[in-house]
Amino acid sequence: MKTEIRFFTRSKKGNTKKLADAVSEALGIEALPVSFDLSEKVERLFLLNAMYAANVDPEVTDFLERNRDKIGEVVNMNTSASGKSTRKAVKKTTDRLGIPLSEKEFHCAASWIFINRGRPTEEDLSRAGEFAKSFD
Ligand SMILES: Cc1cc2nc3c(=O)[nH]c(=O)nc-3n(C[C@H](O)[C@H](O)[C@H](O)COP(=O)(O)O)c2cc1C
Repeated sequence: MKTEIRFFTRSKKGNTKKLADAVSEALGIEALPVSFDLSEKVERLFLLNAMYAANVDPEVTDFLERNRDKIGEVVNMNTSASGKSTRKAVKKTTDRLGIPLSEKEFHCAASWIFINRGRPTEEDLSRAGEFAKSFD
């Protein structure tokens, strides 16, 4: 099964990139920023993103729009200060574009200013890797 990993990270801490790197290591697949379009059709796309002002960054939405015909299924994985999921925002876009969104998803609390210092922890990263591996 063709699987790819894309991530968007904005803060200097790169919390979502840390998650993406953990998934990359677990699956043995390179994790690329969403500025890299898919070169061919993939059956599964692990999309790692974060919550900003209760939404996802427009770069994430733009990536889905540009690559809509190449994505068999999106698996949403994300970080946020509240620990809440970005699923609603991602689903709004995937529904609009007709891209299937997996029921299974992963989200974890991560640091922001003085909140959740030290997260994602090694344990969070290990859970993210295990989650990604649970698909095959
Ligand atoms: C500009 C900005 C806005 C944010 N807004 C929210 C928010 O509305 N809800 C929330 O739970 N976390 C919010 N966060 C926290 C981020 O979701 C959290 O720090 C995330 O791990 C950042 O990922 P990154 O390091 O990959 O950019 C915000 C962070 C930033 C920088």
